[in-house]
Amino acid sequence: MSDQGPAAAYTDGDVDTNRSGNSHLNDLIAMRYSRRETIGGIAAATAAVFSAGLVSACGGGGGGGGAPAGMTTVSAGQNGQSRTGKRVRLVGTVSGPSGGIVGWEQVSGPAVVLADAGTAEATFIAPAVSGPTPLVFRFSARNAGGALLTADTTIIVDVAILDFNPVAKNLDDLVTVPAGYTVTILYRTGDPIAAGLAPYSNNGTDGNFIGRAGDHHDGMSYYGLDAAGAARLDTGSDRGLLAVNHENISQVHLHPAGPTGNGVSLARPEGEALKEIEAHGVSIVEVARSATGGWSHAAGSAFNRRITPNTPVAIQGPLRGNPRMRTAYSGDATQGRGTINNCALGATLWATYLTCEENWAGYFRRSATDNSNRSAREVTALNRYGLAPGAPGNYGWASVNPADGSDARFRRWNVSVDPVAPADGSGDFRHEANHFGWVVEIDPYDPAKMPRKRTALGRFAHEGAWRGQWVAGRRIALYMGDDGRGEYLYKFVSSAAWDPADAQAADRLAVGDKYLDSGTLHVARFAGDGTGSWLPLTFGQNGLTPASPVFPFQDQADVLLHTRLAADALGATRMDRPEWTASQPVTGEIYVSLTNSDAGGRPLGGTDAANPRHYNDPRGATSQFGNPNGHILRLREAGDNGEALSFAWDIYLFGAGADLDPANVNLSALDGGNDFSSPDGLSFSRSTNPSGQITPLLWIQTDDGAYADVTNNQLLAALPGRTGDGGPRTITNIGQGGSAPQTTFVGRAPGVTLKRFLVGPRGAEITGVDTTPDGRALFVNIQHPGGSWPQSQTGGGGRPRSATVVVTKDDGGIVGL
Ligand code: FEO
Ligand code: CA
Ligand code: CA
Ligand code: CA
Repeated sequence: MSDQGPAAAYTDGDVDTNRSGNSHLNDLIAMRYSRRETIGGIAAATAAVFSAGLVSACGGGGGGGGAPAGMTTVSAGQNGQSRTGKRVRLVGTVSGPSGGIVGWEQVSGPAVVLADAGTAEATFIAPAVSGPTPLVFRFSARNAGGALLTADTTIIVDVAILDFNPVAKNLDDLVTVPAGYTVTILYRTGDPIAAGLAPYSNNGTDGNFIGRAGDHHDGMSYYGLDAAGAARLDTGSDRGLLAVNHENISQVHLHPAGPTGNGVSLARPEGEALKEIEAHGVSIVEVARSATGGWSHAAGSAFNRRITPNTPVAIQGPLRGNPRMRTAYSGDATQGRGTINNCALGATLWATYLTCEENWAGYFRRSATDNSNRSAREVTALNRYGLAPGAPGNYGWASVNPADGSDARFRRWNVSVDPVAPADGSGDFRHEANHFGWVVEIDPYDPAKMPRKRTALGRFAHEGAWRGQWVAGRRIALYMGDDGRGEYLYKFVSSAAWDPADAQAADRLAVGDKYLDSGTLHVARFAGDGTGSWLPLTFGQNGLTPASPVFPFQDQADVLLHTRLAADALGATRMDRPEWTASQPVTGEIYVSLTNSDAGGRPLGGTDAANPRHYNDPRGATSQFGNPNGHILRLREAGDNGEALSFAWDIYLFGAGADLDPANVNLSALDGGNDFSSPDGLSFSRSTNPSGQITPLLWIQTDDGAYADVTNNQLLAALPGRTGDGGPRTITNIGQGGSAPQTTFVGRAPGVTLKRFLVGPRGAEITGVDTTPDGRALFVNIQHPGGSWPQSQTGGGGRPRSATVVVTKDDGGIVGL
């Protein structure tokens, strides 16, 4: 970070220190976009309608043909075919004198929910199936005399496919989606969420970000509500809360003419700094689907809330009350101020949100001479986390500090030791950086609850904290990446065994205390034979003692505060920047995106089986050596048990341009409809709808610079197979100075089970994917657009804004299928 200026541009993890209220309908822009390109001949899906009256039945079950004139007949339409996730409409007809329609019921096959079952036209979403499966439905009506007449129809449901034409790679300043889908811009930087705030003028004059959407929307999770406003995690698809991370800011757009003051020789103005600070953090915002299917956010909802870097938070777990957490703000080390650089997320089964602190280190200033006031162990720790002496601190907030140092909201961003302050840290902010790098739990349904930092989950550049498969009676596991070159993959296993009754608890953060404040943190070591092991980061074991040559660990709190150093000591595997994790909801396999590395992070002679590539992906005349396109690794726990200490792994996908060497680089045989670079966000569809069942749908988001000359960032949809569905392969890595063989484990080439679903506007990364429980609305975050999006989506101009968009299928079916 030392090459950053005092008001540095945002950075996103490329850091190497290892070495209802009123709906704002007028704010909404809903429109349809044609697909850019057709690859293959699959038509976009529309609702299957089976209404032609070829089969009919008379009262008494007689055959359909030849009914005498004047007799009442009912028809259930023709038999038909559909696929998992499609919306199917059943149309019954009555001819002749009628005593009224009874409606539709299901006779056989996997149970579905029939909407409008008491009418002649019912609809359902085709269920997940493992092969063609008949579902029989019966339509009933009464004749004029009151006798019941029925007719049946059979719908054969086939397996899920990605039934859309891939969106072409493009450099447009638009969000593009396949034909048959609609994009709605839902929630933009600065949009008011508190009651009574003026609309965002987007000219740099707006303030009051504690009542507005923050900037740089990132990880996101949807929490359902019923019509009465009660929490409904598995239903609630028409009304809910979005918890949205605001990772960073586009500083230049927050002020009328960019930032003023350089933060070093010229202090930043207090108002500018406060705005920038409050545009970070998390927002909770209510959203709803209208009767016609459109989505809007509800400004003024009592659920709406901003959590900023100034919001009080509780320190929980082993670091609570620890002397190394003592600051001038919290003399007993039990509280801190807020959260920052919130990247990926977790969502617990007890309906809380986990927000994760990623590149927090860059915000802090340290004086060039601070080492002279620090112990050797402090210097080691500060260096390992990227807080070298002389670090300027992004955006220069510490410079706001008045001469008397009285405003600690700004003074806290300078973590240098004040030599005249008490040595225990109670009079300055020498320990302030120890408050960051954690997972923070938020109850999205209760704005009165203080967020809790879960220190048992370790301290690093936290990407997400995604849950594995939680089974009653077993301890629960969460999987976490540390996004820096050569950093590690972690797993937390709770001390308490999972009790599904806790999912319904009223005090959700108390459940968090039970599972997240005590447990064992592990780090991954990958072996060259396709297996791996989880190494426990437990004080007193495996050399994590005061005698460690890496760091003099004093106790378990010390191990957690210095997680990276503990993982170094255990010989964990250095990865190509671990970003998000996701859990396949049927099998429990864990997917991990390893976004990329360069020749410094992954030199020709420095590959291993789990980070196997070193090659050149030239961008114009510029060479890009290393693993510039990244890969997605997956692992299967021994015994499919999240408590396991060993696993099997392979590489599900290798990012690459379709034109790169298929023998050594484009190892997943990507083509023009699915080639990508730098995978980042990962999210499986929810198991509450067919797209998360049997063959769950995986959403892959990119945050790329290496392929940015060819395409803007993108969202891909995938139907992955299983760990080990491919096989071992030896490739030849080619570097600037020669070549070297490397054996790895390559998953089955995806073919049509991987398709590009969305391309974002210029300069943006795609992130934050979640869906409603029914899978019929997909929420996507567009972070730091660089053109004039979202206005450009309707031909307008002006400053770009990050935003949440909703993608829906025009026929009401499940998105992606
Ligand atoms: Fe915030 Fe590593 O992406
Ligand atoms: Ca980012
Ligand atoms: Ca990211
Ligand atoms: Ca990234």
